[in-house]
Amino acid sequence: MSAPAAPSRRAPDGSPYPDRTTPTFERDVRQMFGHIAERYDWFDHVASMGNDFLWRPRALGQLDRFRRPGPVRRILDVGCGTGDLARLAARRYPAARVVGVDFTGPMLANALRRGRHAAEGRRVGLARATALHLPFADASFDLVTNAFLARNLSDLSRALAEMRRVLRPPGVLVTLEITEPTSPVFGPIFHAYFDQVVPMMGAAVASEGPYRYLPESLRSLPSRSAFVGLLRNAGFGRVVARPQSFGIVTTYLAEAGAASDQSR
Ligand SMILES: C[S@@+](CC[C@H](N)C(=O)[O-])C[C@H]1O[C@@H](n2cnc3c(N)ncnc32)[C@H](O)[C@@H]1O
Repeated sequence: MSAPAAPSRRAPDGSPYPDRTTPTFERDVRQMFGHIAERYDWFDHVASMGNDFLWRPRALGQLDRFRRPGPVRRILDVGCGTGDLARLAARRYPAARVVGVDFTGPMLANALRRGRHAAEGRRVGLARATALHLPFADASFDLVTNAFLARNLSDLSRALAEMRRVLRPPGVLVTLEITEPTSPVFGPIFHAYFDQVVPMMGAAVASEGPYRYLPESLRSLPSRSAFVGLLRNAGFGRVVARPQSFGIVTTYLAEAGAASDQSR
C-alpha cells in the first residue's frame, strides 16, 4: 500500500492555500486553480480593476517591438489558464497556430468553452501538460508566451530552460508577471490593496486561501534583475524587462540565440 498523501494547507474557509515550502506545493497549486477556475476571469477583472485587459495586449505590443522581423507560424502559451493570452496571440498573428498548455483540467475546460465562441478559437489547440516537461520537440515554436504563471512554479529555472528548448532561434519568450511596483509612492498603496483588500475579496467568495497565497507568491519571485539573470542562465541572449502600470506587472522579453551564441 502506498503511504497516505501528505495533508495540504487550507484556509479557515477550507479553500486550498498552497505553501511553497511543502512537498505538496505543486499538487496544491493545481487544486487551487481547480477551485477558482469558474470565477477566475471575472475575479481577475475585478481585483485588477480592469487593468488585466490592458496588460496582455501591451505585452504582445512590446513583443512586436522587440522581436526580429520574420514569420510566426507556431506559438506556445504555457500555463494558458482560460486561454486569454493564447487567443490574443492567435488574433495578432493570423498565420500562426497556437497551442495552449496547462496542468489544471478545469482551467482548460474553461479555455475550451471560451474558444468555441471566438473566431480565432479554431487556431488554438489545448493540451494538458506541465511547464516542467513540455511535450514538444526542441526548436518547434517561433514564440513562447506565459502570463501570471512564473510565481506558481515549483522550479522556475527548469521551466525557463524548457521554454528555451522548444523555441527556434531567434524565437522570443514573453513572460508577463506581477512584480514589485517601481514607484516608491505607489508601492505602499499597491501593497495595502494587494496584501489586505484582495484576500478579503477572496474570502467573500469562499476563496480566502487562493487570494492569501497571491501576495505570498509575489514575495517568492526573484527581483526584476534576478529574473533577467535566470533568463540568461536558461540560454537566452538578448533579454529586457519592461515594467507596466508603475511596475505592478513586468513583461520580460528574451530572445533565444542560435546555439553558437549561447556560450557568449
Ligand atoms: C494565474 S493563472 C494564469 C492563466 C493565464 N495565463 C492568464 O493570463 O490568465 C496560472 C495558470 O498556470 C497554470 N499552472 C501553474 N503551474 C503550472 C505548471 N507547472 N504547469 C502548467 N500549468 C501550470 C495554472 O493551472 C493556471 O491555469
